[in-house]
Amino acid sequence: MSSTVLIASNRGPVSFTLSDDGGLTMRRGGGGLVSGLSEVVREADVLWVCAALSDGDRGAVRQAAGGRLDRAFATGPIRMLDIPPAVFHRAYNAVANSTLWFVNHLLYNTPFSPEFGTRFRREWESYRTYNGAFALALAEEAAHRARVMVQDYHLTLTPAMLRAERPDLRIAHFSHTPWAPPEYFALLPEDVVAEVLTGILGADHAGFLTARWARAFMDCCETLLGARVDHAARTVTHDGRTTRIGVHPLGVNGEALLARAAEQDVESHMSVIKDLVGDRRLIVRIDRTELSKNIVRGLRAYQEFLAAHPEWHGRVVHLAFAYPSRHDLPEYREYTAAVQRCAKEIEDEYATEDWDPLILNVNDDYPRSLAAYRLADVLLVNPIRDGMNLVAKEGPILSPRCALVLSREAGAAAELGADSLLVNPYDVSGTAAALHEALTLPEQERLARGQRLRAAACALPPQRWFDDQLAALR
Ligand code: G6P
Repeated sequence: MSSTVLIASNRGPVSFTLSDDGGLTMRRGGGGLVSGLSEVVREADVLWVCAALSDGDRGAVRQAAGGRLDRAFATGPIRMLDIPPAVFHRAYNAVANSTLWFVNHLLYNTPFSPEFGTRFRREWESYRTYNGAFALALAEEAAHRARVMVQDYHLTLTPAMLRAERPDLRIAHFSHTPWAPPEYFALLPEDVVAEVLTGILGADHAGFLTARWARAFMDCCETLLGARVDHAARTVTHDGRTTRIGVHPLGVNGEALLARAAEQDVESHMSVIKDLVGDRRLIVRIDRTELSKNIVRGLRAYQEFLAAHPEWHGRVVHLAFAYPSRHDLPEYREYTAAVQRCAKEIEDEYATEDWDPLILNVNDDYPRSLAAYRLADVLLVNPIRDGMNLVAKEGPILSPRCALVLSREAGAAAELGADSLLVNPYDVSGTAAALHEALTLPEQERLARGQRLRAAACALPPQRWFDDQLAALR
């Protein structure tokens, strides 16, 4: 049966683990993109096309006819693509996560990287193959004039490839990341720049989380591709086709989050945290252990804050949850180690017999994170760059008296900046000062800001984000 609405993303709504006896266990997928989409995709008519990420996923695909997992998933049927592991590895780890992610988050240490040689060319070829596999599957599964929503930097080439196969389809692409300014995007080889930009321009509608990222994309199209850009109308015309550029900020479904955070498992974690912290004030951060999240500078800022404010010794605790991510990449493993080293330094310098100034935890535990949000006096969100950052939105919903220290480089700053304490993520001393200011905000102001932050965080729930994009394809 062909579908009228299709979603395509690297990571799907479910994943499978292979046990020793060859059995398969299914679990729901994680990650901001996937959980946002899973919440809104509830129609049987929506087909979700994703890649098999692990041996477990490949096992599940091989048992399913045509790779279609037609079991009654909450999100509807799924087609998982069994892309050969070596191709997948080069496309996902080397190109998507080590190149496009690095470019758009400005993460390169330019004296040493990037380096685009013959090895990169092989990786790029795999990225093309992987994008082509998505385009082919979507072309096979889509009904006439169906709407296809292609997600993120893993799949920048798919829209143009799909259009070439199926000009009848209405195609959207959405970038969940920031977009780099032209002078930085131009670190990529010229032909790669052109392929990525024209790949996305194969869509009818290209969506971004903020006006700033949309503008950067249009600037790249204008400067690096010579496309005709109408900044006011937000359109890009290239090769005789016009793509509309959309700005669709993503917020949180406040009611659902509050209900989840009131469950018993969260309450139990709250008691454990309360026992650890006592009546001290609590600074919380929750991140994937991700280079762009700037965890090390955040810890350094806390260290400077403690050095500058001995009056807070014994009266404050920093709870830092940095759960694992992308550990196939050496940079991420090294980063986790750097976070741990920095935490140890703070412990060695300040911990006393009855005061633990910092509790760092590197395991993923969703109910525990919700418990931490509920107890936070200060939430620190200081990414180098971030498409949106939903932590900055979840915190104020769950803790009405929580002050938000927020990087000006997070997409969320566009909506939450006025009621946050905004920081330059590279300015460790400035961040230390903001932590102090956040702890000492007068109670009334803290509550007034909290109320406005909460309203802004709930204003654009995932359903609206999804519906607006679907509507843009009509
Ligand atoms: C970001 C990206 C998503 C990605 C997620 C987790 O939010 O925009 O596309 O799924 O990170 O990263 P991972 O590599 O684990 O899928």
